[in-house]
Amino acid sequence: MTDPVGANRREFIKSSSAVVGSAVAAQLGLFSTAHAAGSDTIKVGLVGCGGRGTGAVENLCEAAKDDSNVKIYALGDLFSDHIENARQSLKINEKVASKFDVTEDRCFAGFDAFQKVLDSGVDLVVLATPPGFRPQMLEAAVKANKHIFTEKPVGVDGPGIRKVLAAAEEAKAKKLSIVAGTQRRHQAGYLESMRRIHDGVLGEVTGGRCYWNQGALWMKPRESRWSDMEWQVRNWLYFTWLSGDHICEQHVHNLDVMNWAIGTHPVKAYGMGGRQVRTSPAYGHIFDHFAIDYEYPNDVHVASYSRQIEGTDGDVSEAVLGTNGSWHSKNGYHFTLSGHKSRLRVEEINPYVQEHIDLIKSIRTGKPLNELKTVAESTLTAIMGRMSAYTGKVVTWEEALNSKQNLFPEKLEFGSLPVPPVAVPGQTELI
Ligand SMILES: NC(=O)c1ccc[n+]([C@@H]2O[C@H](COP(=O)([O-])OP(=O)(O)OC[C@H]3O[C@@H](n4cnc5c(N)ncnc54)[C@H](O)[C@@H]3O)[C@@H](O)[C@H]2O)c1
Repeated sequence: MTDPVGANRREFIKSSSAVVGSAVAAQLGLFSTAHAAGSDTIKVGLVGCGGRGTGAVENLCEAAKDDSNVKIYALGDLFSDHIENARQSLKINEKVASKFDVTEDRCFAGFDAFQKVLDSGVDLVVLATPPGFRPQMLEAAVKANKHIFTEKPVGVDGPGIRKVLAAAEEAKAKKLSIVAGTQRRHQAGYLESMRRIHDGVLGEVTGGRCYWNQGALWMKPRESRWSDMEWQVRNWLYFTWLSGDHICEQHVHNLDVMNWAIGTHPVKAYGMGGRQVRTSPAYGHIFDHFAIDYEYPNDVHVASYSRQIEGTDGDVSEAVLGTNGSWHSKNGYHFTLSGHKSRLRVEEINPYVQEHIDLIKSIRTGKPLNELKTVAESTLTAIMGRMSAYTGKVVTWEEALNSKQNLFPEKLEFGSLPVPPVAVPGQTELI
């Protein structure tokens, strides 16, 4: 088939602009059964052909290894060299090759590549650019009635998250499937741990802790021919408008687990952080460590640490404390109940593959999974912590959500783009 929403659906949308909300959704539902038969081709477009994007395509192809009607159909990236590298490596990848159907005229470079991928006739789009672009791309993908696999995080600031929450609602009404790259939600050990915690084995949850502490990451030394914009996008980790800082880019995974365990998002953040080791301008303006106290309803507190400093002890894990015991995920899934320690052992398949198995199943069965609101809330949790650490102020959920601080550049073009100063707690203003 063509577009999941096909020419007919597009016509329908155009001709019924006066019909809104549930009426539209009900009509769209009629079309969304098109994939359920399993014989219709799901054409996949990748936007952001870097490490995770190409990895996600491989995972998707592995997830669909018995489904010959899943095709990798279009590629988009800001940089043509990245597209070419991805194209060459994917077409000889043994998990991908038989599903690879990307012709040269379906490779798109530039800031508008995402729109061209969406317009190329794909049914499902994989969004794996730096997170700063995600709100714009999610909004456009939902508008274009595409199923979506979106990498985390899904934004870097309040205005972006508001856009994503609106897209989540629209996608729900349109019955689109959206799975997010918070893969712990598709990982058997986490799923069973959370089931038990929600069943009350720990008693009442009273608190928790979560960490993403590690050494340094890659950095690409600036080349003289690069404009500010090109340098920043090629080094996106180090600029808050692109990555959201590492609390958002990486630690969102652990914050997502805490929100999942507790069943809601925090109400405020009281945090600190700084830039103690990675101080060269080559590393943009982000912090290298954060420590945040997150307050959830009923005075439940979660300690969150995130650090990227070489030579320090690493720990990427979560823990939940309750009135009857505790659970943690360091090197496995461990419960301590009434002083008795036990390790949960479950068979797991690679969660990066499982998330695509779940996504394709949801498209094929016409039972849409929509994880966009959940991942938007986890992303905002991270943003709220960063805002608190940057300013030194207590930041509430409403302040983070309704923030007017739009970090997206006014113009997307290869040219001058000054780097904001490093935030100074007590001086940097809460906007
Ligand atoms: N779920 C996970 O465990 C996991 C792991 C790694 C990365 N990620 C996420 O995946 C995303 C990508 O990370 P990565 O490691 O692949 O980075 P990367 O730098 O390897 O790839 C990003 C790609 O996006 C392209 N790009 C940048 N701006 C673009 C734009 N405006 N339009 C189109 N393409 C654009 C870049 O040129 C690059 O090819 C990030 O959000 C990251 O947080 C998730």
